[in-house]
Amino acid sequence: MASEQANSIKRSVQALKAHWKNGAPRNMRDAFAEDKKRYSRYSLNLDDLLLDWSKCLVNDETLALLGDLAKAANVEGRRTAMFAGEPINNTEGRAVLHVALRNRSGKPVKVDGQDVMPGIKDVLDRMAVFATGIRSGEIKGAKNKPITDIVNIGIGGSDLGPAMATLALSPYHDGPKAHFVSNVDGADIADTLARLEPSTTLFIIASKTFTTIETITNAKAARKWIADALGEKAVGKHFAAVSTALEKVDAFGIPADRIFGFWDWVGGRYSIWSAIGLPLMIAIGPEDFGRFLDGAHAMDEHFRKAALSKNLPMMLGLVGYWHRAISGYTSRAVIPYDQRLARLPAYLQQLDMESNGKGVTIDGKPVSGPTGPVVWGEPGTNGQHAFFQLLHQGTDTIPVEFIVAANGHEPELDNQHQMLLANCLAQSEALMKGRTLEEAKAQLTAKNLPKSEVNRIAPHRVFTGNRPSITIIHDKLDPYTLGRLIALYEHRVFVEAQLYGINAFDQWGVELGKELATELLPVVSGEVSAKDKDASTQGLVAHLRKRREK
Ligand code: F6P
Repeated sequence: MASEQANSIKRSVQALKAHWKNGAPRNMRDAFAEDKKRYSRYSLNLDDLLLDWSKCLVNDETLALLGDLAKAANVEGRRTAMFAGEPINNTEGRAVLHVALRNRSGKPVKVDGQDVMPGIKDVLDRMAVFATGIRSGEIKGAKNKPITDIVNIGIGGSDLGPAMATLALSPYHDGPKAHFVSNVDGADIADTLARLEPSTTLFIIASKTFTTIETITNAKAARKWIADALGEKAVGKHFAAVSTALEKVDAFGIPADRIFGFWDWVGGRYSIWSAIGLPLMIAIGPEDFGRFLDGAHAMDEHFRKAALSKNLPMMLGLVGYWHRAISGYTSRAVIPYDQRLARLPAYLQQLDMESNGKGVTIDGKPVSGPTGPVVWGEPGTNGQHAFFQLLHQGTDTIPVEFIVAANGHEPELDNQHQMLLANCLAQSEALMKGRTLEEAKAQLTAKNLPKSEVNRIAPHRVFTGNRPSITIIHDKLDPYTLGRLIALYEHRVFVEAQLYGINAFDQWGVELGKELATELLPVVSGEVSAKDKDASTQGLVAHLRKRREK
């Protein structure tokens, strides 16, 4: 990075830090009281999608300073480079083009001068033919029975996306039942197989690299299960695969017409839009899968074209950076008030933490400040009865992102949806307003408690409030709005990465553990001595060797 740019970023960050100390709103209650237009000033819409960050400690100056930093970090230039297929993943020398997978514009997208759109269309068309055949029962298993159950075997980006989206879109699920096996823990595949009948089961082996040990091990167990039950010849009719490593899939014995490829410019955690989405397509059908892509494309177009101050992913990213890097909040909770988005926090954990959990800049220098926060969450209202205590009264401030649909899919239970909405809004209101000691005392006094009791109990009923939250509302969770929501988060992660100055698209941090696990396997099994290991690892190995049932 040129030193002029580095200096201008430094100045912007310093200005933001100074503003946080002296200039940013100190108290949200006051900020709302002083500015009647605060909500409309600090919220944006894209069609029915609403993003409200008015309950955060920001004002116009905060946003202007964040905008200055975005300019200094050339976020818009980097965005253009991504959409143009430039190799912005500089440590792997790759373009980053998940946006091409949902490019519905008909316009070419080039990598190294080559239009990638015909290849994308070809795979999508093949997926649709296969998915339709499975859904209609035309493509049958080896015993000539229709497929009633599909099992996706994959992990990380080859699992979380389809697993999250299949649950999210269960009202649209009219294809075979979908199961997801990811963990190398044999319990995962054993419990899944126990529910299934080999002659009506199709396995989809999903692995970008086709080397991931968990996936290959589970795939072998599934292959044996089919071969034992139906004979070796049946294998081809009960497997399909999704990968960029086509020769490796071929060696596994999966017929070419059941192999669906994608490309190295699709990161694992950005791959739900590719053939990795096959289980979702089989579950909801090609048309609804197309709507899912449409929704993401609409967000891409908005992100690409809207001015910074009107741009939802930009604003979500700027406020995310403000919370993490300037305010110093180390985590953020994502709380979907939507039971069908139960896997969204896990999905966003990989998207965000594998992308932005980095310690060096894009130039390989140590970063000068914090990078991505810990992302976690559970659906509301369940979380309210578990960890919300800490969110309201704990000693850490944790910004919360609430996601909710204005409408449910169950008109006959709309009273429950209204309760869900009321709870969601109540939590953000409570986080913002809190309850003062005087208010707590007044409440207790109104209950006719003796003064000594009022004084004793009141401090426990104080909520500091002033805790930031963001609310995201769409009309209804459907394929289009889900695609749009995920793309919103993808671009938010991108924006934050540019502000941190890091490469969001590699994941070297997962390598060391993988290497050591390979090394430790023969140590655990007793083939190799643990003598070269540290004392703790040696002790743990010795304990396990003693305690394991032979
Ligand atoms: O271990 C991390 C990772 O490489 C993720 O980035 C990826 O989504 C996951 O493993 C699975 O990789 P693959 O699709 O190659 O099996």
